[in-house]
Amino acid sequence: MARFDKPVDRRDSDCMKFDGVRALYNKDDLIPMWVADMDFCAPNEVLSALKLKVEHGIFGYPGNLSKYYQAIIDWMEKRHNWRVEQEWIFPAPGVVPAIASILEELTTPNDKVIIQPPVYHPFLNIVKKVGCEVLENPLIYRNNRYEMDYGSLEEMIDERVKVLLLCSPHNPVGRVWNKEELKKLGDICSKYNIIVISDEIHHDLVFPKNKHWVFAQVDENFVDNTIVCTAPSKTFNLAGLQTANVIVPGEKLREKVQHKFSTVYNSFPNVMGIEATKAAYTYGDNWLDELLDYVKGNLEYLEEFIEKNLQPVKVIKPEGTYLVWLDFDEVNTDGLTAFDFVLKKAGVVSEPGEKYGGSTTSIRLNLACHRETLQKALFKIEEAINKPTV
Ligand SMILES: Cc1ncc(COP(=O)(O)O)c(C=O)c1O
Repeated sequence: MARFDKPVDRRDSDCMKFDGVRALYNKDDLIPMWVADMDFCAPNEVLSALKLKVEHGIFGYPGNLSKYYQAIIDWMEKRHNWRVEQEWIFPAPGVVPAIASILEELTTPNDKVIIQPPVYHPFLNIVKKVGCEVLENPLIYRNNRYEMDYGSLEEMIDERVKVLLLCSPHNPVGRVWNKEELKKLGDICSKYNIIVISDEIHHDLVFPKNKHWVFAQVDENFVDNTIVCTAPSKTFNLAGLQTANVIVPGEKLREKVQHKFSTVYNSFPNVMGIEATKAAYTYGDNWLDELLDYVKGNLEYLEEFIEKNLQPVKVIKPEGTYLVWLDFDEVNTDGLTAFDFVLKKAGVVSEPGEKYGGSTTSIRLNLACHRETLQKALFKIEEAINKPTV
């Protein structure tokens, strides 16, 4: 665990999380806990693979990617018990551009696409940009967790609904949907012939006692109607390498994705992304297990701190991801949104609930940081709530 406790100075590294915040607010002392990347170095094996590539010195077009595909196939089988065939895999420069391209291929303007807010905010923008109508089926907060609303989902479906964007595990509320929940969702989508694009970018980040189900695996009837989006980026902190993989087990959908991707992406990933993916998926198990322990430790620290010192703040306990959704509804925020309150009064940069289609009383906090950073942020939030300056 020691490796995650070693602070890395990210300032002046052209990173959105730290340098972006400084540019935005013109302040040096803010604590950035917003964008979803981690303050941890990638596994040593990944760094070594990248160094080797740099030493080789040639970054020309890649080809014959069988080792790349094999690394993904092995990872999906060993970590997710899903046997993937090589021809099901389509590399893309990110899950977001992949979803956008797929929607362009599968829909025509005026089709409808369902999302389930509060949810990863680009979902809404992508659907609008491809010219489709967004249908929102908000999650319901019940028994201290968010759940999908199957009743309202079925009511809103008509013949113009073509796709549902599923976030699994769910950013920002941290649900790792269980098999029954996914089955209920998939049964409804199958009944109305709706394609499910399942964004599973957080699939490896699951806390003990929870299990991630690849959507296509939940029921054999879902296979032909599902597109699964994955990446090593959240798991191993490689987002800047822009390497994701879309996995399409059904033949008809595969032809459509193949058609689109061959025109927009040339079907090969970034050469550094190839090296990083192979190394991470081949050697990254221990690193990932230690990471999950560390993030879980951060979550437990946060929960205990809030229980002891910040009772009005409600923690929506995540079952996975390194993100936590906090509710400030019972905090006196002087009329500020929860995001503005923690920013202006505590100097902590979070993500605003409303950005995800949630409430202005909610924020999302990124726990993939050193414990010390989390401690400092919580002390500052406590000071802002319990000892407000006049
Ligand atoms: C659910 C979800 N999908 C996609 C992304 C971004 O994916 P990419 O950087 O591969 O476009 C994120 C990043 O936070 C995310 O949380």
